[in-house]
Amino acid sequence: MTRAVCPGSFDPVTHGHLDVIERTAQIIDEVVVAVGTNIAKNSLFTPEERVEMLAAECAQWSNVEVTLFGGLLVDFCADNDIDVISKGLRAADLGYELQMAQMNRQLTGVDTLFLPTAPQWAFVSSSLVREVATLGGDVTAFLPAEIATRTMTRVASRNAGAAGDV
Ligand code: PNS
Repeated sequence: MTRAVCPGSFDPVTHGHLDVIERTAQIIDEVVVAVGTNIAKNSLFTPEERVEMLAAECAQWSNVEVTLFGGLLVDFCADNDIDVISKGLRAADLGYELQMAQMNRQLTGVDTLFLPTAPQWAFVSSSLVREVATLGGDVTAFLPAEIATRTMTRVASRNAGAAGDV
């Protein structure tokens, strides 16, 4: 029995993330999607909201569960009997993802499996989705329908709040 973790901020989860989770679930027995907080990023949704949205999207796969994690990813792996970290890889991410994979392996020996992002989602990232949505662009092509609705609603309420600021 092999267990993988698909870690990320998922703020919000995109079609690209779900493609990587589905492909991981096709080759690994059990998959844990772990929602972490990237301290360098300004989040749109709370971690609990992201878990809830991901759980709904991942319910279609019987070997996938979704949970929150804090602290080091390698500690989460050790505590949850995770054998491998699975990540989607876009060309632009190679340097940083390689650095994290090597650091994680150095820390505890846990290895990282990289799946090349599907070409149709290669340019999609949650941070770009947040930026486009915040500036009034249409992000519906990049997100599941329910996530797109919630993203646009959250951005609208944020923008309304910001407009009220002095
Ligand atoms: O979707 P993201 O923002 O690329 O996800 C990044 C995340 C949360 C997976 C990454 O920041 C992470 O692993 N954070 C946990 C803290 C940690 O282990 N840091 C050391 C990485 S070598």
